[in-house]
Amino acid sequence: MPVNPMSILERLYGNQLRVHEDLHRASNAHRRSHGCDVYPSDLAQAPLWPLLAALVHPRRFLEIGCGLGYTAALMATTGGPGCRVDTIEANPLHADLAERALAVKGLSSRIRVHRGLARTVLPDLRGPYDVVFLDSDWQDYPRYLSHLVRLTRRGSVVVSANLFPLFWRGEKGPAGKNSVRAYLRNLIRDSRFRTYILRSDWHAISVRV
Ligand SMILES: C[S@@+](CC[C@H](N)C(=O)[O-])C[C@H]1O[C@@H](n2cnc3c(N)ncnc32)[C@H](O)[C@@H]1O
Repeated sequence: MPVNPMSILERLYGNQLRVHEDLHRASNAHRRSHGCDVYPSDLAQAPLWPLLAALVHPRRFLEIGCGLGYTAALMATTGGPGCRVDTIEANPLHADLAERALAVKGLSSRIRVHRGLARTVLPDLRGPYDVVFLDSDWQDYPRYLSHLVRLTRRGSVVVSANLFPLFWRGEKGPAGKNSVRAYLRNLIRDSRFRTYILRSDWHAISVRV
């Protein structure tokens, strides 16, 4: 009989999967009414951020693709009062909603929402960031590699989401397969990073060496 992995994970992790669940729910509700691409990261991925915090002791996080702020809130909570999160959002409505929700949670002093396309915002940012999360339109990912090098230090971790177009079967998959392929090829061949692709999530985790 098939199992429900989420109910097993909930029993294992308890409330860890519920942190900022209200923002996760709000992101899904917004996407359904707005018809946009605000897919918040999976609730089952919430324990990734405390894991990375234990590994990297991050003071500075960078996120590309804020959405309504669910993952930015997780990062800020994990990092504690001394951390700072820079998150980039191209859609002004999403940026407004994120800022509002993060203010209600008392997280505005830790999180700055940068408005605009990542490719125009990234050149103005100064590193180093300890943890970077790519969760935006993957077609632009190849443009980000030089910024990832510039904005990280030895030991920084980069999590790249949305790699699924590369692994899509058949002709009618989502656009951007070649962009994901080019991004991953360059990232994996870059001697400044070590990269592991998680087949279950189609995320890549890279460490700057
Ligand atoms: C998958 S959602 C992000 C979800 C968010 N990371 C979370 O876990 O709650 C993608 C978001 O990235 C934004 N976005 C897409 N392409 C972008 C780009 N090139 N630059 C900045 N933001 C972008 C979209 O407007 C959308 O809000």
